[in-house]
Amino acid sequence: MALGGVLVKSRSEVFYSTKSGNTQKIAEAIAECMGTQALNVSGVGEGHSLSKCDLLFVGSGSYGSAPSAEMAAFIRGLGNSEGRHAAVFGTSGGGREDYLKKMKALLEGRGLKVIGMWGCLGQEYSLKNKGKPDDKDLKDAAGFAKKMLMKIEII
Ligand SMILES: Cc1cc2nc3c(=O)[nH]c(=O)nc-3n(C[C@H](O)[C@H](O)[C@H](O)COP(=O)(O)O)c2cc1C
Repeated sequence: MALGGVLVKSRSEVFYSTKSGNTQKIAEAIAECMGTQALNVSGVGEGHSLSKCDLLFVGSGSYGSAPSAEMAAFIRGLGNSEGRHAAVFGTSGGGREDYLKKMKALLEGRGLKVIGMWGCLGQEYSLKNKGKPDDKDLKDAAGFAKKMLMKIEII
């Protein structure tokens, strides 16, 4: 798909699932960078049309080394999305990528081409990782989003 960065920017959507707000912060940083709104999957109906979307950013916290049940259900409800690209992001207490890889596999199961994954630590209820994600994480997330746009330009 020959798409310029500017075009794709206006045709990207950011979806997230969050329980304590950590992944929402990252989603909003990415959405700001893409000039769009971050959408919480809990408020997105089954009929949400992706007809104008070429690049989906999809993010969740890690729950038992997996994305949240809400995010998994959202991805399963996407239907066949052959030809679309996705980039996966999230926050976790431990920093492992297992939940990101599972989101990637779910998206690939719907026909999407996953072009990148990015995660950072998130503060836990116990206050482990206090203050995370922090300002640097938000900047890094925006950098990740820009990199994804550039990547899609050369696909
Ligand atoms: C019930 C529960 C299970 C969790 N399981 C994991 C886990 O398996 N691995 C991990 O790294 N973090 C785990 N965490 C930490 C969260 O992934 C982390 O705090 C994340 O930033 C939460 O993101 P959210 O607020 O956007 O949902 C868990 C947190 C809770 C409350």
